[in-house]
Amino acid sequence: MKNTIIQIKLLLKATYLLLFLAVIFIAFVTVLHYIPPILKFQDANQTAFTWRLKSIDTDMPKGSQGDKVKYGYLLITKTSDHIGPLATNKAMRYAGNNLTCDNCHLNAGRKIGSGSFVGVTNRFPQFRGRENKMGTLEERINGCMERSMNGRVMPENSDEMQAIIEYMKWLSEDVPEDIEKLYKGYVKINIPDEKADPNIGKAIYEAKCKLCHKENGKGLKNNTAQFSGYTYPPLGGHDSYNDGAGMNRVITSAQFIKGNMPFGATYDAPLVTDAEAYHIAAYINTFERPNKQNRKDDFPDLKLKPVSTPYGPWVDNFTPEQHKFGPFPPIIDFYEKQYGITKTK
Ligand code: HEC
Ligand code: HEC
Repeated sequence: MKNTIIQIKLLLKATYLLLFLAVIFIAFVTVLHYIPPILKFQDANQTAFTWRLKSIDTDMPKGSQGDKVKYGYLLITKTSDHIGPLATNKAMRYAGNNLTCDNCHLNAGRKIGSGSFVGVTNRFPQFRGRENKMGTLEERINGCMERSMNGRVMPENSDEMQAIIEYMKWLSEDVPEDIEKLYKGYVKINIPDEKADPNIGKAIYEAKCKLCHKENGKGLKNNTAQFSGYTYPPLGGHDSYNDGAGMNRVITSAQFIKGNMPFGATYDAPLVTDAEAYHIAAYINTFERPNKQNRKDDFPDLKLKPVSTPYGPWVDNFTPEQHKFGPFPPIIDFYEKQYGITKTK
């Protein structure tokens, strides 16, 4: 009898203990349920606050890794001297003009709205319409080599190509997603319904661009006895991007201008209106420039060609004139209706 009472008492104690533990457990789970969002919130804030753009002067890594990054930076900012027409070793002359990568990818690829390299290594490999296949970052860089730099393909395993990629990787380290989005590509423009008019563009060019880029966009050479590149890069002529380059498409060029020119403009404080950028782009792309070789091999799937690619063939019946100067909305509508493809450029 005594034993049974003790047993019941023990059983009760055990039940209380279990109940107690259960309450603690439920309380614990409930608290856990609410805590993570708070932690996450702080986390998100922290990345936004602690991320900052890499500084060339103070953030370069040390050792052999740092040497590669530094070399990449040098190639992007002094392109012509090392891998262009001014290189002493002729075999190293991959770029065909005296532009630098950072003439278009401003502030050494660190300016928002200029096709920045911040975050770029996270986006490759990616699908490329121009080749109709998955493309690597090496191929994309060579795309600019053959068009914007009017040059030839740089071997993918060369120290130079790898240094440029190391530099881009370094800039892209730990970049939060929202920041990567902000830096990516160009600012958008509202594509006007009207045709781009080079004559309107010329008048604005004379007021806002000619001071630096000079008559017919020939640019201003550095003031040195021997040619050493440009203070203000050319927008036309033999030393400019060729006609296969993105900058030779009115929409792309207008987007670049809106976010970057006249020098000092930024993605959030443009110095020209969308319509002005559009007409100026038409004007600068009437300048003479080198021809891209084998242009006809671009865009094996012609449906994917940007609407403002000024050279054929196309899979539509719009005139070459309309592909060069617009109006573009009818062409954009055609691809939407005929092929279900939404084009933005
Ligand atoms: C004449 C201007 C110009 C020059 C010079 C130029 N590029 Fe570009 N680059 C462009 C344009 C235009 C794009 C496409 C931008 C867009 O549509 O968002 C581009 C895109 C790129 C991209 C892809 C960016 C992305 O976010 O997908 C890379 C990488 C690149 N260029 C590297 C280079 C390198 C390296 C050089 C020098 C060897 C160079 N570029 C020189 C105009 C230029
Ligand atoms: C105060 C001088 C200045 C003015 C004004 C100016 N630019 Fe530029 N532009 C530059 C400089 C400098 C660069 C190269 C940027 C760099 O290397 O950081 C450049 C680069 C460019 C590029 C890309 C490189 C190339 O040569 O193809 C284009 C396109 C361009 N400018 C167009 C324009 C247009 C259009 C205007 C007028 C709306 C304009 N710029 C006004 C100084 C100027």
